[in-house]
Amino acid sequence: MLALSRPAVAPNCLAVQSVRRRLLSWFDRHARKLPWRGSADPYAVWVSEVMLQQTQVATVIPYFRRFLQAFPTIQALAAANEQDVLRLWEGLGYYRRARSLHAAARQVCDLHGGVLPNQPDDLRRLPGLGRYTVNAILSQAFGRPVPIVEANSRRVLCRLAGLRGASRAAATEKRLWDLAATLVSRHRPGDFNQALMELGALVCTATSPRCHLCPLQSHCAARCLGIENDIPPRGPRLRLENTQEVALALRRADRVLLVQRPQQGRWGGLWELPRRAIAPNETVEAAACLLLEELGLRAVLQHEVATIRYGVTRFRVALTCLEARHRGGRFRSGLYRRGRWVRPAELVNFPLSRPQRRLADFLADAG
Ligand code: ADE
Repeated sequence: MLALSRPAVAPNCLAVQSVRRRLLSWFDRHARKLPWRGSADPYAVWVSEVMLQQTQVATVIPYFRRFLQAFPTIQALAAANEQDVLRLWEGLGYYRRARSLHAAARQVCDLHGGVLPNQPDDLRRLPGLGRYTVNAILSQAFGRPVPIVEANSRRVLCRLAGLRGASRAAATEKRLWDLAATLVSRHRPGDFNQALMELGALVCTATSPRCHLCPLQSHCAARCLGIENDIPPRGPRLRLENTQEVALALRRADRVLLVQRPQQGRWGGLWELPRRAIAPNETVEAAACLLLEELGLRAVLQHEVATIRYGVTRFRVALTCLEARHRGGRFRSGLYRRGRWVRPAELVNFPLSRPQRRLADFLADAG
């Protein structure tokens, strides 16, 4: 046992070496073959780590391949326009990651000759790079023995040390980073960090951890105490709330109005058919009229194009799209950055959120 559950006890040196040896040998035998693994290209490591934040490995794989094909170098990414970057990111979510990655690539070209720096301070100054991403790049691409803590490794470390506490508390967080720093292999830091995450993904899972397959079982405080299923503590169940929205397929001649969302907030910088929440006791048509007012436009409401359902955070949303015909007014909005009248066939070129892509597909199919 590592005896790490009390802060006064330093991890025993032999135990630390044993954890490193066992984990790396398990990783060599069981690691999944992932397209960014084994890459010595710091840019590929960087892209993969940004995509993997808040997103599952299986989802990331095709996005990673397409992204590197379209933008094989930092220079290529820096030269791209933001819309094309967001279009390739479409469906991955958390679009600020894409905008920061793009801005950071431009900064690397301006300040570092297009070469990703290998100094922590230089990396930290780039947009979107926090402690986790900086250390993931330093360890995997530059062989620096620095720790990482993210969702999977956090769970592994909490169990290893028998830390029951709310795992996001600041004191717990510090202890986890300290523990990760103590454990990280000096010879293979990148593999060690990936092994911690891999163990969390494949063996030390959130529900039903498979301790009998774990290379660290003899060191694990949670296993020893029989509390592996209590770590992390289960939070209260998320209560879903039903809400309704209206979107407009507003036609002018053979075009439809597409609007760009502000940079801040959900779906920042993405385009959409103009949309608004429907208040309780409000009809779809009344909400559509308020939306038209907000856009400075007059129109005749026509038939329903589709109603789709999607989930976002704790909301279950029913989104009704109405067809409308433009009758006057010029686009202006306090909500959207800009508007463009586009042919349905051009919708494919604009980055949209997942639910909006579903609506766009209805319009493109209808011509
Ligand atoms: N999650 C974050 N980074 C990862 C990596 N390099 N491999 C697997 N899962 C990850």
